[in-house]
Amino acid sequence: MQKAVLAIDACNIISEIDERIYGSFIEHLGRAVYGGIYQPGNPNSDVDGFRKDVMALVRELNVPVIRYPGGNFVSGYNWEDGVGPKENRPVRLDLAWFTTETNEFGMQEFQKWLEKVGSNMMMAVNLGTRGPDSARNLVEYANFPSGTFLSDLRISHGRKEPYGIKTWCLGNEMDGPWQMGAKTADEYGRIAAEAAKLMKWTDPNIELVACGSSNSHMPTYGSWESTVLSHVYDHVDYISMHEYYGNPDDDTPTFLSETETMDKFIKSVVSICDRIKEEKHSDKTMYLSFDEWNVWYHSLDHDAKLERWGRAPHRLEDVYNFEDALLVGGLLITLIKNSDRVRMACLAQLVNVIAPIMTDDDGAWPQTIYHPYQLTSRYGRGSALRVDVDCASYDSKKHMHVPYLDSVAVLSESGVELTVFVLNRNLEEDVEAEFDIKGLSLRPIVHVALEGCGLKDVNDSRNPDRVKPVEKQLREGSVVLSKASWNVLRYRVV
Ligand code: AHR
Repeated sequence: MQKAVLAIDACNIISEIDERIYGSFIEHLGRAVYGGIYQPGNPNSDVDGFRKDVMALVRELNVPVIRYPGGNFVSGYNWEDGVGPKENRPVRLDLAWFTTETNEFGMQEFQKWLEKVGSNMMMAVNLGTRGPDSARNLVEYANFPSGTFLSDLRISHGRKEPYGIKTWCLGNEMDGPWQMGAKTADEYGRIAAEAAKLMKWTDPNIELVACGSSNSHMPTYGSWESTVLSHVYDHVDYISMHEYYGNPDDDTPTFLSETETMDKFIKSVVSICDRIKEEKHSDKTMYLSFDEWNVWYHSLDHDAKLERWGRAPHRLEDVYNFEDALLVGGLLITLIKNSDRVRMACLAQLVNVIAPIMTDDDGAWPQTIYHPYQLTSRYGRGSALRVDVDCASYDSKKHMHVPYLDSVAVLSESGVELTVFVLNRNLEEDVEAEFDIKGLSLRPIVHVALEGCGLKDVNDSRNPDRVKPVEKQLREGSVVLSKASWNVLRYRVV
């Protein structure tokens, strides 16, 4: 058995974790909304048409913020189509996903649903086919108390209290040629700065996220961030990051080393932000909103064959396996390790579409990736502590010297619990990890592990629990981390 040492020092604090790093995303795409969270007439739905089985699974995830309504969809969206009496709402073509959008569900319904699951809206505005004027109108409709045309319109739609939406995204992936109304960095930077000004003049309490690159492989990645930030630095609070990971070559060691890709991406965006800060002689620190991340590749071939203009087709329905859950657990560790700069992150998405939760007409079930997300959202709140890992490493096709173990610790908000998250990427051997703890006295509570499954094992409607965490006894001293496992080690601080 391989040996390792995990060193934790109570003084080695990375940051207080912003709980919004456990955010998620619902886009008008495929069956995320229709047939996912909303399905009037289904026996599992409540009086509002919301799927109760889905809401139960979402509540367990304790998701603090959910981005809406897109994604690519938002770049052609008229927010007015989704408010007011349903019988007046127009059916429109959605040119993001080449489907038909009925607008039966809009921000009114989404807000009601959020209140039932205990989450908050992160609203994206359309800076593709629209601009600053519709963006500031949406802020007024949503957040202004009363006495103006748009705030009174909201009230006439049955919502007296303002929505009080705090976090707003200034468009989506505006660098991407696939985006409706795609822009150069200068074009986007100017429009985003003007939209930001108007939106904050309408409601000074909001926070704004500017679009970073669609992913780190974009030819303009880096220069896009520099140019956009040079326009918006004084007006926004975050820059976005998006990245999806896959294992198309069936190379699991390389796939599991994608945590390094995410880590490098974050650090390079941080360095661009800090360079612009220097250039502007600014005191303000720019934070990151990693508002789309996940594994996404299983459904690509299927989706390439989809017919146009369907309503809520099965699209982006990746069925996740055990190794995907290991990577998602590792990516969550990476986000916590960077929580000094990553203040928001959204697992994309939440239901049916590249999602931890799947539905059919008869029920809902957790995909494999649901479990690391649920456990980290639950035990990953408080102060992030660095874990110095001394262990063997391997070379993957993308990264050299990848340590088999990846780890971070979280001291709970109340200070009474320490949770150590550990990914073991060694596919052949268990690893025995010793602890070197400074400044904390710990008593073991429990070891929760995702382990012992085949790498390609999946959950489905008939076997919803094939991949699920197991609880094991946690003893004083060393701990055995099974080969190919993701682990949550919980200790009481005494
Ligand atoms: O999450 C699916 C899509 O991925 C989003 O609409 C888009 O922003 C990204 O390219």
